[in-house]
Amino acid sequence: MDKTITILGLESSCDDTAAALVRLSADGPAILSSVVEGQTALHADFGGVVPEIAARAHVERIDLCVERALEQAGMTLADVDAIAVTAGPGLIGGVMAGVMCAKGIAAATGLPLIGVNHLAGHALTPRLTDGLPFPYLMLLVSGGHCQFLLVSGAEDFTRIGGTIDDAPGEAFDKTAKLLGLPQPGGPSVEAEAALGDPARFAFPRPLLDRPGCDLSFSGLKTALLRARDGVVAEKGGLSVQDRADLCAGFQAAVTDVLAVKSARALETCLDRIPAVPAFAVAGGVAANRRVRAALERVAADRGARFVAPPLALCTDNAAMIAWAGIERFRLGHRDGMDLAARPRWPLDRQSAPMLGAGKKGAKA
Ligand code: KG4
Ligand code: ZN
Repeated sequence: MDKTITILGLESSCDDTAAALVRLSADGPAILSSVVEGQTALHADFGGVVPEIAARAHVERIDLCVERALEQAGMTLADVDAIAVTAGPGLIGGVMAGVMCAKGIAAATGLPLIGVNHLAGHALTPRLTDGLPFPYLMLLVSGGHCQFLLVSGAEDFTRIGGTIDDAPGEAFDKTAKLLGLPQPGGPSVEAEAALGDPARFAFPRPLLDRPGCDLSFSGLKTALLRARDGVVAEKGGLSVQDRADLCAGFQAAVTDVLAVKSARALETCLDRIPAVPAFAVAGGVAANRRVRAALERVAADRGARFVAPPLALCTDNAAMIAWAGIERFRLGHRDGMDLAARPRWPLDRQSAPMLGAGKKGAKA
């Protein structure tokens, strides 16, 4: 490492406005600051992220986030080598807000501009947090994403499989909504599930009978709705125990599907590159203790290292964008003022596009 690189990263592709400063020096990578402004309260009344509200909030907050990130790091733009910004995939108004802000800073300072794929940000995070060498298998599992990627380089991703409909976090959120639990649904469903019997309701395990690593979660949501309506029709309402049992059954089904498909994805990678010894996860759903434990077991059973970055770096943040920017910068990548905001931007250009786009935007 001959030169220290410091990059300002911006993220605004969904419902978090974020700015961060990350530095790579001879001592390795360091997060100098990371500011994330969530928008949960703004969207709470609508049962999902409203793109126009999200875009407006990003415009209002992004430069404040940049100021705070610089302040927390005790730096000015003169200490920065380049600006990295999420240029897609995501909700287009939000992505545009970030790209315009980054272009403004680049134009005013003359600093290089680097467009980053949001999914690459997630996928490269284990290198920032754990120094994970290429190649490794990554499972991105959140409210907007669900895909398996073989990560062979900072710009070399092979999609092994992904959801054909909803993302698991989306299914957790809808489950919470159907059961009258608070958003985001993942943590509230997990808390209820801890008190429930996962065997009382027989929820399906979609696509397990089919070969390959694609996943599906929309049927599970429908099954949950039917089970809930069945109990309500029978008893006139849901008891605390009914709700806990529904949550436990739902969580067990999601966990089983993710574990079986992860095992398959890891075996596929080991077949292709026998030396692939690592399985990494990112995304909000990786915070779920049962899911995390099941994935950890999948890796351990196959002699693979398991890497799950700290939660604040698993969910949307700008440190991952700054880091992906550093990786691209080192490969010589620079963008011009024609950098476009892209609603869809598949990481693996060889793969067929995925079907469907969830409430949190395009899955790419
Ligand atoms: O990565 P993230 O912050 O945002 C994106 O979707 O990109 O993930 C948020 C998602 C939400 O759907 C939330 O319900 C889910 O992750 N989540 C969880 C848990 N914590 C967050 N799902 C299951 N169990 C959890 N403990
Ligand atoms: Zn994300």
